[in-house]
Amino acid sequence: MAAARSAFLVMVVLVASVFATASAADLFGTLQSDQRFKVVVKALVDTQEVDALRDRSNGSVPFVFIAQTDAALQEGLGLDGLACITRPEHVKDHMVQILRFMEVGPLSHPVKTAADLSSVAVDGKLATINGMPIFVEPATGSGVILSGDAEQEQFSATVAEVKQINANVTLVVVANGFLVPAQVEEQITMACFPSAASSSSPAVPLAPSSNHAPSSKSAEAAPSSSQSTRREMLRTMLIFFVSSHTEI
Ligand SMILES: *[C@@H]1O[C@H](CO)[C@@H](O)[C@H](O)[C@H]1NC(C)=O
Ligand SMILES: *[C@@H]1O[C@H](CO)[C@@H](O)[C@H](O)[C@H]1NC(C)=O
Repeated sequence: MAAARSAFLVMVVLVASVFATASAADLFGTLQSDQRFKVVVKALVDTQEVDALRDRSNGSVPFVFIAQTDAALQEGLGLDGLACITRPEHVKDHMVQILRFMEVGPLSHPVKTAADLSSVAVDGKLATINGMPIFVEPATGSGVILSGDAEQEQFSATVAEVKQINANVTLVVVANGFLVPAQVEEQITMACFPSAASSSSPAVPLAPSSNHAPSSKSAEAAPSSSQSTRREMLRTMLIFFVSSHTEI
């Protein structure tokens, strides 16, 4: 009885220390043990990106993972948008691009503070694994604003937390926004918009753009005119797409 009990205790201690080691030394383990990043962790698994991330964050070169919390992703993409791109048919096309956009490296030197993100940036840009840059701008104090698009403020976030995983690998937590390249956001809109307009009433919810009063309302609703122009273009393309497919 006592032997069984101490064997059990030894097991508990062993299991606990394995987890402690994983979360202390390994970026993915750190994400896993942090309840704020459930969406990112699940998406990394679903897209089979875990091994690649482990490899890039193995400490042999300076590397940063810019983690977006579940709350930020939900706010940025909307509940429906997030549900859409994490579905099996979309996760590998779309969510993977957001995940790789969070991976920054290899860098010239390790990042220890938010301000270091400015000093490792080249021409104000951080190279991501996705291939599209993250724009870095100094903010008040030693703060830093990261942005997925140089012109559109809605795709930006502030650095909330900088946590060194090891000498070369850093976890950066962003807040107050959603970090995505405008191009990827467009692709997500294209992929998820038609499924949002349910197949039982095709094209009808997309067609009338008259409920958007062009001048007075768009000024307060849309942060920039280029954004609303872009949305109009998308809308037009979608109407064309839907109508050309329903003719068949
Ligand atoms: C880390 O990964 C790189 C490839 O990205 C590899 O060349 C290197 O040997 C790995 N280092 C360790 C310590 O595993
Ligand atoms: C950190 O990265 C540099 C540059 O690649 C490398 O020379 C150094 O050995 C790495 N540090 C550790 C502790 O692996």
